[in-house]
Amino acid sequence: MSKDRLNIAVLGCGRIGKVHAQSIADSTRASLAAVADAVPDAVELVAKQHGARVTDIGGIMADDAIDAVIICTPTDTHQDIILQACDAGKAILCEKPIDMSVDAIECAKAAVEAVNVPFMTGFNRRFDPDFAELERQLREGVIGDIETVTIISRDPAPPPISYITSSGGIFRDMMIHDLDMARFLLGEEPVRIFAAGSCLVDSVIGKAGDIDTANAILETESGRQVQITNSRRATYGYDQRIEVHGSKGMLRVGNVLQTGVERADGSGFRKSPTQPFFLERYGQAYRAEMGTFVDAVLHGQPVSPNIRDGLEAQRLADAAAASWSTGQPITL
Ligand SMILES: NC(=O)c1ccc[n+]([C@@H]2O[C@H](COP(=O)([O-])OP(=O)(O)OC[C@H]3O[C@@H](n4cnc5c(N)ncnc54)[C@H](O)[C@@H]3O)[C@@H](O)[C@H]2O)c1
Repeated sequence: MSKDRLNIAVLGCGRIGKVHAQSIADSTRASLAAVADAVPDAVELVAKQHGARVTDIGGIMADDAIDAVIICTPTDTHQDIILQACDAGKAILCEKPIDMSVDAIECAKAAVEAVNVPFMTGFNRRFDPDFAELERQLREGVIGDIETVTIISRDPAPPPISYITSSGGIFRDMMIHDLDMARFLLGEEPVRIFAAGSCLVDSVIGKAGDIDTANAILETESGRQVQITNSRRATYGYDQRIEVHGSKGMLRVGNVLQTGVERADGSGFRKSPTQPFFLERYGQAYRAEMGTFVDAVLHGQPVSPNIRDGLEAQRLADAAAASWSTGQPITL
């Protein structure tokens, strides 16, 4: 693309749409040209804040001045919008999960590949500075051969039940980030997965057919193992830690705390609380993700994580859900 600035539209101005709109507005290489949302109040707020035009999805697709769309609407709307964006030849950044079903993602992937538009899946954690540095050091081989990866991911509190019922369940909504991180760090595809889960936080989640506590073990062909631990509750805040053990040592990333101040007295040492939730913890990651997408599209470079990464993570999430419901390991 022979431009020095990308014109972008944000579709869906809820929690994550607002974050992406802010990153675009702050960028020197992108402009927030238009915003759309099914709810007028939601879209007016973001449009006013950033001086963007309010339109609808059809208006965005028909506007040749818009180069790229950021899909931040609920998951069950993504596939249809992706197909429209492909027809319109727009570059796409689509929030995770791309869809609840592997079949729908395969259909979207075929459309993306047929018209060859750039497509990024919104796995923002790959852009977290600490996790990105961890991956860089792994590829450099500083701890030798990877043997085990341990990923701990706990939310501070469960989302509203209305979110749970439309989320696709803990494996497709929450663990999918960790499954993508497992692929990102391993550099080798998992071939087997075993998952266990239960409802220990809120029985209403169980009555809605979901679970709030889950563990998964993934294995690769060469025998590397990943353990993922998820909970919809952590009494001490948002808990996001990763440890990788290798033949020559260990790398780990701890929680990002609200301040670096540590207090000591007769009862021991006390650190600051963790960041409250994902919007604060991954603020830098969301900005870096948008910057990477904008630069890749402007310079015609490959976009990563791409739609295949979204598809493979979904396959793992489906397999984890199947393993939990059958009590059996699933071979991929
Ligand atoms: N990468 C991340 O860290 C992350 C974090 C949160 C959410 N997400 C994903 O982002 C997506 C949105 O999640 P959210 O938490 O922002 O949801 P949200 O409910 O806060 O926002 C969704 C917005 O889309 C609007 N909307 C609904 N249907 C629409 C339609 N047909 N056309 C236009 N607008 C429509 C709603 O009015 C709402 O404002 C989901 O797929 C979710 O999984 C990703």
